[in-house]
Amino acid sequence: MDRQIQSFLNKTSVICATIATIVLASLLLHTPETCIPDKSTHSSLKFPRSTCDLSHRSLTTLDKKNRRLWSTSAWLNKVRSFSILFREAQRLSLLANSSKALCLLAGAGQEVMALNQIGVDDVTGIDLVDSPPLVSRADPNNLPFFDDVFDIAFSAQFDVVLFPSRFIAEMERTVGVGGFCVLVVQERTEGEVMDIVRLFRRGKFVDSKNITLSGWKMTRIVLRIINSTSI
Ligand SMILES: *[C@@H]1O[C@H](CO)[C@@H](O)[C@H](O)[C@H]1NC(C)=O
Ligand SMILES: *[C@@H]1O[C@H](CO)[C@@H](O)[C@H](O)[C@H]1NC(C)=O
Ligand SMILES: *[C@@H]1O[C@H](CO)[C@@H](O)[C@H](O)[C@H]1NC(C)=O
Repeated sequence: MDRQIQSFLNKTSVICATIATIVLASLLLHTPETCIPDKSTHSSLKFPRSTCDLSHRSLTTLDKKNRRLWSTSAWLNKVRSFSILFREAQRLSLLANSSKALCLLAGAGQEVMALNQIGVDDVTGIDLVDSPPLVSRADPNNLPFFDDVFDIAFSAQFDVVLFPSRFIAEMERTVGVGGFCVLVVQERTEGEVMDIVRLFRRGKFVDSKNITLSGWKMTRIVLRIINSTSI
């Protein structure tokens, strides 16, 4: 009698263990499904089951947000305005498709997109707040780049910087000899332009021009880097 009960219990535990193994195996085998990009409209109703699933979801959200932003007329107009400015820079040989470009205080990245659209692929956009995928977070007063690594540095936000000489020092440090620094500022007289030019230690004034950018009257200032950083 005792032996029969013992054998029954053994069988039961073997069956239970088998069921548990099957359930566990099926759970494990099913997990990867959540990593397969899911285009179904019900994805928001799904319970996030893995980190893979979570990162996929946040990327989709970002993509959607960017697609919406990049199709607004304000965005498109600003990108068009920057494209005109950069095409002129191409004509003046300040910029080539192969140039390594740095955009300082690039906001949401309109100028980065404009450069990409006219054929400049190697563009780094930075601002105090990141705006992926076009703009990364970095301090313009303490740039996380080596000396002389860019061919051109650009900023349309010099008017609002807190430490103008520090900003200029970092901007020109990262541009190699023969490269250019381009600033677009609110319209300035020639004397005011020279006050800005004097902040540069390595750059030689090339020219300034009054332009219209997104409907605003601005002055574009160009300097060429002539002295190496090691002086
Ligand atoms: C630069 O790239 C643009 C866009 O890809 C192209 O149309 C243009 O011809 C290129 N310019 C040169 C000089 O290669
Ligand atoms: C730009 O406009 C300002 C103000 O009208 C003027 O003083 C300056 O000379 C102009 N600069 C150039 C380069 O034409
Ligand atoms: C470049 O260096 C030379 C020699 O040190 C100096 O005289 C000159 O002012 C510098 N140029 C600029 C634009 O800083």
